[in-house]
Amino acid sequence: MNTTAESLLATQDQVPHGFYDRLRERGPVHWDEEMKGWLALSYDTCKTVLSNEDLFRHPYADADETMIAVKGGARNITVLQGEEHDRMHRYVLQIFSPKNIKLYIDHHIVPTTRYLIDRLRPRGRAELFEAFCQQLPCRTFMSLFGMDARDDAFLDHVMALHETIMEWAGGRHFHGRELTDRALAASRELNDILIPYIRRSRDNPGNDLMGRLWAEAPDLLAGVTEEDMIATCRELYLGGSDTTVHALANAIYLLLSDSGLFEAVAADPAGSAMGNFIEEVMRTHGSVEYRYRVANQDIELGGQWIRKDQVIFTVNAAANRDPAHYAQPARVDLHRQRPRDHLAFNTGPRVCVGSGLARAEMRTGLAALIRELPGLRLDPDAEPPRFTGFFTRSYRPLNVIFN
Ligand code: HEM
Repeated sequence: MNTTAESLLATQDQVPHGFYDRLRERGPVHWDEEMKGWLALSYDTCKTVLSNEDLFRHPYADADETMIAVKGGARNITVLQGEEHDRMHRYVLQIFSPKNIKLYIDHHIVPTTRYLIDRLRPRGRAELFEAFCQQLPCRTFMSLFGMDARDDAFLDHVMALHETIMEWAGGRHFHGRELTDRALAASRELNDILIPYIRRSRDNPGNDLMGRLWAEAPDLLAGVTEEDMIATCRELYLGGSDTTVHALANAIYLLLSDSGLFEAVAADPAGSAMGNFIEEVMRTHGSVEYRYRVANQDIELGGQWIRKDQVIFTVNAAANRDPAHYAQPARVDLHRQRPRDHLAFNTGPRVCVGSGLARAEMRTGLAALIRELPGLRLDPDAEPPRFTGFFTRSYRPLNVIFN
């Protein structure tokens, strides 16, 4: 059995790719004693696990009542299984169709970005992780839900509620009852916050996300209920916030660390240079480091025997730099043949439904920073960015100056 003496846990707040490369050279799948699960590190093994839910189930297939309550109810897309999940997945994907994304860009992402940049411009310097990356995805959702995207106190409150839920989700096996109670209370409060907006958009559907969810339901999810709406909005809000925050941060860091890259992207902010840059950021510095699944039966994977009910962590960040799949895997290459061929947004039946929105936020946000903050560069006299985090990772702080 391939066992690693080092653990994925030891890579917290580090660039983990040396660790991944060393392990992958010895084989694609290894037992990690501290994580109490298998690490799949190659593109092929990760894709196999993520594409075959009959062999490797999503962990929330085993969700208990507390988990379901914290996730906003049994109709949460990540909790649903089989045919019910497929139907919900198709429905939500359609809410992020190219036509709908165009509406969201014009009515929500562009105005939110402009609001943030207008606040930054007079200052000449900023810490962009807090002042931009942490703001744009959450405020975009507020706007998409018909809330006031400029309400700072409301934003702070919602972010704190999400943080409690993330803290619980990350450590629910070790933390006690007190954190569980706080997570349940945060979940109830988020539901209560959303309900009036959900009802208002049902009665007067507009160009916002809830309006599209109601308007498209009769064709795609017949008999849609308020419970569907609460659970869906909750998951979109949560799944689309932190992930995009860190993706934006990595994109800004890479742009500001390589002048050739900056010039190429700045010269083509609406074209393929920007589009391919975003894909390469996601491939080489994707914000979600890993996902996990549970084996439904004893099964061979990458030369190892996985036992029924053992956990397999698909290390998507390692798969995305697998030299057996990508030439010069660590290089950000704006001319890769198939730029979207990566696992940063997952693959298979649970591929990310919000990738179109995330890409639109990144494209709009980066183009605006380049255009509106001339001379944008890292501040050489301020604390430099470090790659930080575990499940989601990014470069921060992002102290910048501009003219
Ligand atoms: C750069 C940003 C993003 C990244 C890296 C990302 C990554 C992922 C990954 C890896 C998964 C698979 C989770 C699993 O099944 O184990 C996923 C699923 C999902 N994502 Fe994203 N995501 C991003 C942005 C978004 C946004 C903006 C939204 C909402 C608009 C969103 C909503 C979802 C939802 C609802 C699922 C669950 C799909 C399902 O279970 O069928 N994500 N995402």
